[in-house]
Amino acid sequence: MSAPEPVVTVALDPDWASVALVEDVRRGLGSQPRTLPPKWLYDDVGSDLFDEITRLPEYYPTECERAILRDHAADIVAACDATTVVELGSGTSDKTRTLLDAFTAAGSLERFVPVDVSEQTLRDAAAMLAERYPSLRVEALVGDFTLHLGHLPRGGRRLVAFLGGTIGNFYVEERAAFLGALHDSLEPGDWFLLGTDLVKSTDRLIPAYDDSRGVTARFVTNCLRVLNRELGADFDVDAFSYVPFWDPRQERMDLRLRADMPQRVTIPGADLSFELAHGEEIRVEISTKFRRERLHDELASAGFGVERTWTDADADFALTLARCDG
Ligand code: SAH
Ligand code: TRP
Repeated sequence: MSAPEPVVTVALDPDWASVALVEDVRRGLGSQPRTLPPKWLYDDVGSDLFDEITRLPEYYPTECERAILRDHAADIVAACDATTVVELGSGTSDKTRTLLDAFTAAGSLERFVPVDVSEQTLRDAAAMLAERYPSLRVEALVGDFTLHLGHLPRGGRRLVAFLGGTIGNFYVEERAAFLGALHDSLEPGDWFLLGTDLVKSTDRLIPAYDDSRGVTARFVTNCLRVLNRELGADFDVDAFSYVPFWDPRQERMDLRLRADMPQRVTIPGADLSFELAHGEEIRVEISTKFRRERLHDELASAGFGVERTWTDADADFALTLARCDG
C-alpha cells in the first residue's frame, strides 16, 4: 500500500523570496545598526546546517526540549485533547514526533499542520510524517508565521506548538506583535505550547552559539551567500568573522558578522550599495533567553493563561502550555 500523500499549501507568493527579501535588505542593511531578519538564514543549505546544529554536543536546547517532551507529552495530551496540532517554524518536526506519538496513542488527534518558510525541508518532513502517521491528515503550510497566521485551519480544538526557542529570535516589540497576532488567530479554548531557552551562564551559552567545529559560523555566514545568490550582491564572504556575544542587559545572545577589512558592498537586486568599515558589524540574529516571570507576563498581556510550565532536570529550557483566553 502506498503512503498517504500530505497536502501542501503555499501561502507565500511565488516572488516572496525576492520581494520580501529586497524590502528586508533595504530596511535592515540600509540603516544603522545593520541587521537582517532571521528567516533568510533558512534556505536549503541553511536548513541543513541548522539540522546539524541541533545535533552538536554544545547545542543543548534541542536535547533539553526533547527530554521535556518525552516526560510530559502525556500531560500535554491530557490537558488539551486537541483535534488539530499546528507547528510554527516546524523545520524537520523531529522532536514533534514525541508529541504526535502521544496524541495518536490517545486517539483524538485528526490533523497535523506544520508551517515553515523553508519549502523543501517542509515538503520532506510532511512526506515523512504522512507515512509515519497514516491516521492523521498532514496539511503543511509553506508560509511566514509573521504574515500568514490567518491561513491556519479553523475548527475543532487546536494546539499551536512553537518550539526550539524560535520565539527568542524576535525583538521585544516583534514578539509582542507575534503573540497578539497569534491570539487573534485562535479561538478561546485553543492551546499554545511554547519552547523557550532560559537565562544561564555564558560558559554554556557561548559554546552553544559558537561550536568548535564551526557549524554555527557557517550557518550565520550563509545569509551573505543567500544575498549574493538571490540579489547579485558581492559580499566577500571569507572576509567576515562570526562574532557571537552575550548581551547581559537584554539577556540575549547577539550574533553578528564583522568585516575583517573595509569593503564596498553592492546589492544590485536591492538597488543598494554601502561601505563597510574595517570592524563594522552586521547583526544577523538575536536569541533571547527567558525567565519564567517575564514569559508569563508577556503571555498574559497577549491573552494567554499559563496552565503549566515544565523544565528539564537542570532547568536549562522551558516548555509552557497556555490556554487562549477570550
Ligand atoms: N522547530 C524546529 C526548528 C527551529 S529553527 C526545532 O525546534 O528544532 C527555526 C525554523 O523556523 C526553521 O525551520 C525556519 O525555516 C523557520 N522559520 C524562520 N522564520 C520563519 C518565518 N518567519 N515563518 C515561518 N518559518 C520560519
Ligand atoms: N532558535 C534557535 C536559537 O535561538 C536558532 C539558532 C540556533 C541560531 N543556533 C543559531 C540562530 C545560531 C543563529 C545562529 O537557539
